[in-house]
Amino acid sequence: METTLKAIAVQAYGGPEGLAVVDLPVQAPAAGQVLIATEAVGVGGVDTLIRSGALAAYGFEEGHIPGGEVAGTVTAVGDGVDASWIGRRVWAFTGTGGGYVEQALAPVAQILPLPTGLSAAAAVTLGSSGAVAHFGLRHARFAPGETVLVRGAAGSIGIMAVQLAARGGAAAVAVTTSSSERGERLRRLGATHVLDRSGDAGVGAPAGYDVIIDVVAGKDMPSFFDRLNPNGRMVAVGAVAGQPPSDFGMKIMNAFQKSMSFAAFSAATVPEADLRAVRSELFTAAGRGEIEAVVHELLPLAEAVLAHQKMDAGEVFGRIVLLP
Ligand SMILES: NC(=O)c1ccc[n+]([C@@H]2O[C@H](COP(=O)([O-])OP(=O)(O)OC[C@H]3O[C@@H](n4cnc5c(N)ncnc54)[C@H](OP(=O)(O)O)[C@@H]3O)[C@@H](O)[C@H]2O)c1
Repeated sequence: METTLKAIAVQAYGGPEGLAVVDLPVQAPAAGQVLIATEAVGVGGVDTLIRSGALAAYGFEEGHIPGGEVAGTVTAVGDGVDASWIGRRVWAFTGTGGGYVEQALAPVAQILPLPTGLSAAAAVTLGSSGAVAHFGLRHARFAPGETVLVRGAAGSIGIMAVQLAARGGAAAVAVTTSSSERGERLRRLGATHVLDRSGDAGVGAPAGYDVIIDVVAGKDMPSFFDRLNPNGRMVAVGAVAGQPPSDFGMKIMNAFQKSMSFAAFSAATVPEADLRAVRSELFTAAGRGEIEAVVHELLPLAEAVLAHQKMDAGEVFGRIVLLP
């Protein structure tokens, strides 16, 4: 058995060039953990945020290994873990880091078997994002026949929200995106109307929406809140453009007679058993080809710098996957 492994570490917080390939000792899984020989590692938006130093207040230190989701084969188990996991192909959530490695540790409670037909790359593309999209729509109390707008639809969460809203019987699924080429790709995934980032240019788009799933937030969020129908629900599942204006809450009170609501949603509040059940359903559906995991590009693990450069440049449609 190998005693060292290749990993990608943040040697200096800031730009992507602060990432470097390092050799680390292989660790035996602790009680309750499994060791996974990784086949695919998802590159998440939060990885780039941590690398940039934007989350320094949360105590990330130099040498941090980014990456929150991996897929591969279990090679060893810690005390208290059923040895029958060894040899099985799984998806795993490793937390806020620990994923950009050839062999990853994960709590057994955070692994799921990969169904037949689902590649490791597909699993790390929809394992986290699919759950956020599913529970974000549920948080918005989305019902069949309603009109939905997905703001920031070209990322991994938005792509899943578009597909799940369409599958769930939405009357319309509008999206915001920055290019017509992305718009066409989103139409093939279930979008019915394509708007630009400001929400314009959607010929025939609904005048109002029952549900808005917002990955973007930022200064323009209030103008999207204005597009809610009476009783409409806007749910922020991300904030890729930063926080909304500090007086955003006044929008809700100023539109009192329209009974509109706004909520933030984090998958961290979903019970673990519910996350597992939904991820399992989504993996099965993807394995059957009923939903699509959109992989932007496969890159070798050693090319993590390039992956982060592409992320920072906004070039990514779906998810970049690193291959150890
Ligand atoms: N709720 C949860 O539990 C949860 C879990 C994990 C992550 N997150 C959050 O989800 C977000 C990342 O999601 P993601 O990976 O799907 O998103 P993403 O790919 O980073 O961004 C989604 C899309 O938003 C558009 N966009 C980017 N910057 C913009 C701007 N300044 N103004 C307007 N549009 C902009 C881009 O598409 P176009 O260029 O086509 O417009 C981009 O593809 C982060 O905020 C992360 O913290 C939330």
